[in-house]
Amino acid sequence: MITIRQERPVDAIAREALLDVAYGSERHAKPSAKLRKGRLPAAALVAVERGRIVGTLRCWPVEAGHGRPALLLGPLAVHPAAQKRGIGSALMRRAIADAGRAGHKAILLVGDASFYGRFGFTAEKTAALTMRGRPDPGRLLGCELVAGALDGADGAIRATGERESMRILGHRPLASRARLVPRAA
Ligand SMILES: CC(C)(COP(=O)(O)OP(=O)(O)OC[C@H]1O[C@@H](n2cnc3c(N)ncnc32)[C@H](O)[C@@H]1OP(=O)(O)O)[C@@H](O)C(=O)NCCC(=O)NCCS
Repeated sequence: MITIRQERPVDAIAREALLDVAYGSERHAKPSAKLRKGRLPAAALVAVERGRIVGTLRCWPVEAGHGRPALLLGPLAVHPAAQKRGIGSALMRRAIADAGRAGHKAILLVGDASFYGRFGFTAEKTAALTMRGRPDPGRLLGCELVAGALDGADGAIRATGERESMRILGHRPLASRARLVPRAA
């Protein structure tokens, strides 16, 4: 049986190992990885089967140009031995539902439209958005949780989440107190 639950601190090593298997070590050079670096996620889910983490998905708070709040979804990965059993889709559906319940209006990601299109992601409203590291054209996708949330979206996508270094300074990070609670629009 597969369980999808919130990631716990103790899951971090298994999650990173899974991401290495799924994407290779070059994953750290991807545009969205650069944007996420040093930030705390707004949401972190894992798929667990017989006590082992077989899937991971995280979302990050961003500004989708000119003060427009959104989430950046990714990375999503399922262990190669567990793929094509619906785990990636289950993680996507749960993340999108959680984001909607928390009041987020739009989700962005960098990925294949042939996979993410089935969850409502398209490049229709992302052409005028830019991202550090310049993802390949057509791979920056958006999904509106509220109709019109990405109308006229333009400008740079910037990370807005709490910085990881705040942990070292002894602050209790916002993301651990209230996962998926959006910033005021
Ligand atoms: C993408 C990924 C998360 C899907 O997880 P999963 O648990 O196998 O997904 P599901 O079982 O829910 O869905 C499988 C379907 O997605 C399709 N799919 C998987 N990767 C795809 C891709 N990059 N493009 C298009 N379709 C893809 C499969 O062909 C399958 O199609 P089907 O339902 O018609 O048979 C997983 O394959 C993975 O971790 N891949 C490695 C990371 C990666 O390459 N990510 C790139 C995605 S942009």
